[in-house]
Amino acid sequence: MMNEADATFNRPADTLNRPDSELDVRLRPEHFTEFVGQQKVRERLELAVEAARGRGEPLDHVLLSGPPGLGKTTLAYILAADMGVNIKSTSGPVVDKPAALAGLLTALEPGDILFIDEIHRLQKAVEEYLYSAMEDYFIDIMIDQGANARSIRLNLPRFTLVGATTRSGLISAPLRSRFGLVNRLDYYGTDELCSICRRSAGLLQVPVDEPGVREIASRSRGTPRIANNLLRRVRDYAQVRADNRITRDVADRALEMLEIDRRGLDQMDLKILETIVHKFGGGPVGINTVAVSVGEEPDTIEEVYEPFLIQEGYIGRTPKGRIATERCYQLLQITPPSRSGQLDFGV
Ligand SMILES: Nc1ncnc2c1ncn2[C@@H]1O[C@H](COP(=O)(O)OP(=O)(O)OP(=O)(O)O)[C@@H](O)[C@H]1O
Ligand SMILES: [Mg+2]
Repeated sequence: MMNEADATFNRPADTLNRPDSELDVRLRPEHFTEFVGQQKVRERLELAVEAARGRGEPLDHVLLSGPPGLGKTTLAYILAADMGVNIKSTSGPVVDKPAALAGLLTALEPGDILFIDEIHRLQKAVEEYLYSAMEDYFIDIMIDQGANARSIRLNLPRFTLVGATTRSGLISAPLRSRFGLVNRLDYYGTDELCSICRRSAGLLQVPVDEPGVREIASRSRGTPRIANNLLRRVRDYAQVRADNRITRDVADRALEMLEIDRRGLDQMDLKILETIVHKFGGGPVGINTVAVSVGEEPDTIEEVYEPFLIQEGYIGRTPKGRIATERCYQLLQITPPSRSGQLDFGV
């Protein structure tokens, strides 16, 4: 069996981006004022909170989507704190029966937030109960069976549903249409990640200079959770191999040891790119085929690795599958196959 150190060594983007670790909770911003970046999303949500509070009404239902570690859970908690309401947190696979949903909803106080993480993984039968709950604040549930079966109506307090998903494409149209505020989070820029790293270093009391911060930020795949986790790894390195202080050189050596390259790409990213180029002639190739070739779950490839590789322009998505771009060939330092000029790179 692999121990944790081996797993981290081999699969950093995946293992460095595990949700809701103890570190996540400790470093999580509690109010909009501490939340860095995502300017547009933040502005829309802050405005909605101020308006709802001004009218003394609950906040409209909010859907947050985007790759792991970008701040969806954080925002759900900030919404509750800034609205001054309670938040109850659950996740799609946990609410496995309509009765479980009814239990959660009837326990809410007016204005409370119900946070459903991984909302795309709700079962269809449960999802359908959410429709009337979100729209008209009631659910009809069936009690008893056979000849005695009857439905009773439960009236619900006016609550706010906050849903989070890494796969917005899997949210059904009827569910999506019931959210008043639909927001997608994007990868963060290096300057924003620098601010996040600086803040976290302050909270963890880690001495780090500006070039050190920048080195970590620029190798964090645009992801705050990864920035925080890399900071911690680099701190360990600084403690054992340097004088506790994180400089650019210390960060560079530590990240080199973790096999995270200057662009933030790790071994699995490179394996995916090399597979598309060498085994499948640059594509198009389906994601499941790539997954089998690199020995990883298709879901992990699609949620964790692929969005960043697409965002950075290394691969493109076409109706026939994934293809390697010019940038990918440049990165791997090989000459792209000759083209007739009409190839669509889809980026
Ligand atoms: N905008 C931000 N400013 C500062 N820190 C942030 C920001 N966004 C995220 N973080 C940090 O990154 C951590 C991970 O964020 P969060 O748990 O909200 O991600 P998520 O989108 O819910 O991920 P997942 O899809 O894996 O559940 C937080 O605990 C927090 O420390
Ligand atoms: Mg989360």
